[in-house]
Amino acid sequence: MARSNVCHTSFGRAAVHDRIHYSKFLDLRMSAEQAADLVKPGMTVAMSGFTGAGYPKAVPGALAALMEKEQAAGNPFKINVLTGASTAPELDGVLARAGGMNLRLPYMSDPELRRRINDGEMEYMDIHLSHVAQHAWFGFYGKIDLAIIEIVGVTEDGQLIPSSSVGNNKTWLDMADKVILEVNTQQSPALEGMHDIYYGTALPPHRQPIEMTTADQRIGEPYLRVDPSKIVAVVETDAPDRLSPFAPVDETSSQIADHLLDFLDHEIRAGRLTDKLLPLQSGVGNIANAVLAGLSRGGYKGLQAYTEVIQDGMLSLLKDETIGFASATSFSLSSDGIEEFNRHVDFYRERILLRPQEISNHPELVRRLGCIALNGMIEADIYGNVNSTNVVGSHVMNGIGGSGDFARNGYLSVFMSPSVAKGGKISGIVPMASHVDHTEHDTMILITERGLADLRGLSPKQRAQVIIDNCAAPEYRPMLQDYFDRAKVSSYGKHTPHLLGESLSWHQRFIDTGDMRPGAAQA
Ligand code: COA
Repeated sequence: MARSNVCHTSFGRAAVHDRIHYSKFLDLRMSAEQAADLVKPGMTVAMSGFTGAGYPKAVPGALAALMEKEQAAGNPFKINVLTGASTAPELDGVLARAGGMNLRLPYMSDPELRRRINDGEMEYMDIHLSHVAQHAWFGFYGKIDLAIIEIVGVTEDGQLIPSSSVGNNKTWLDMADKVILEVNTQQSPALEGMHDIYYGTALPPHRQPIEMTTADQRIGEPYLRVDPSKIVAVVETDAPDRLSPFAPVDETSSQIADHLLDFLDHEIRAGRLTDKLLPLQSGVGNIANAVLAGLSRGGYKGLQAYTEVIQDGMLSLLKDETIGFASATSFSLSSDGIEEFNRHVDFYRERILLRPQEISNHPELVRRLGCIALNGMIEADIYGNVNSTNVVGSHVMNGIGGSGDFARNGYLSVFMSPSVAKGGKISGIVPMASHVDHTEHDTMILITERGLADLRGLSPKQRAQVIIDNCAAPEYRPMLQDYFDRAKVSSYGKHTPHLLGESLSWHQRFIDTGDMRPGAAQA
């Protein structure tokens, strides 16, 4: 495979013809506005992007402007948008603001998009990240009319150098009728070679085992293939990925990390893990990032990560050699993280591999490798059912992301959260989860700053007592105990005792008074 001649000593801002070594594509260069004109109302458009990295940065903005112009002239203009996961204001934000989306899938985190979804102005389909590519191939989303994919460059033989995320790009390039490429000269050319694109997937009943047994194994190719005849436009961009900084690691997150470290030590002493642990998966969000940062205090060396995103915390772990190798599908770095990555890019190139999300999140691989799944949650109930997505059962926060791919198939599934939210007005442990993403069967360990509940081998009633004792906040613990005690006596069944008329009353009280604690709002 011909490696491109991209210069590795300079970062970004190379002229676009230094990035495109396949002359046919040079002739297809056009402005973002011209490329946006190729998008028609009603199309299903698949875009690159995963957790704020590697998304197209120019065409969506031009498209949003076009949509607003058409809508002002009385011509409705909406499309369906498929991505890898969350993107950024330049994609999700502008299209949401323009009212230009019928349907968006999968995971998202843009505030404007979230508002439109929760206001009922558009449809959002939340789906396990490992499912997206195969469901597209199964034909569940219909025809994909167009793909808009950010890349770093094009090799001499017309293959694409992937950008800072891989996500579903392989699938979008394979399935879409037409393709618009955004060549972003600000993405580091040193990304070339950091990808492992697997082309061995097939549809049932022709599927074969995926031959990967360690997290650092290459099973694919460094480049994305594309049929050159599908390319209808090449747009030059020169803009960074835009990610919000993580909250600074606070006392609560540190305590959660400490409980996790104690637990891992306990597992090593019990002989269920070695000091190399098993490949770590770390979810998105402030808590997961803080927990990663805390892992370096554990004295581990040479661990592996088989995960989705490389967050700032993961870079720190690679830097101090707590983690020796990280496999993911995307970066999800703050601007400080991007600067750190760019400054030490040669170091990180040796230690990071980005794969398609159908591989980074593949249930077969997560189970074979025995991942330790570490994910955040919104709330858990006393039996260990976990809500990762919907505040008070109806207001979507982000989406399930890959948490289900890893929680159900990992060697250990850990969910973490502060014991309270919104200054104590909301309990993270509730009688009944107002929405369930991970059932009690997929939840092994719950951690709050108050403590850790090890639910393995416990019946529902045993689980409830451990969760109340170890994880609940002191102000909510007596309320939970009272609910559980009365449920044990009065419940219709004694296996998973509930008082159904009361089980969601805490959430209703929050909706009515702004506080789950009775009388607190008036106090
Ligand atoms: N009720 C209401 N709001 C809650 C809440 C609850 N029970 N628990 C958390 N929140 C709010 C927080 O107040 C905060 O809101 P803010 O942004 O207005 O301050 C926000 O949710 C984030 O919570 P935080 O405590 O900072 O944790 P986080 O950044 O780690 O995010 C999740 C927690 C659950 C939102 C996040 O982990 C997530 O989206 N998970 C699902 C996807 C996933 O697990 N992916 C993993 C693989 S990609």
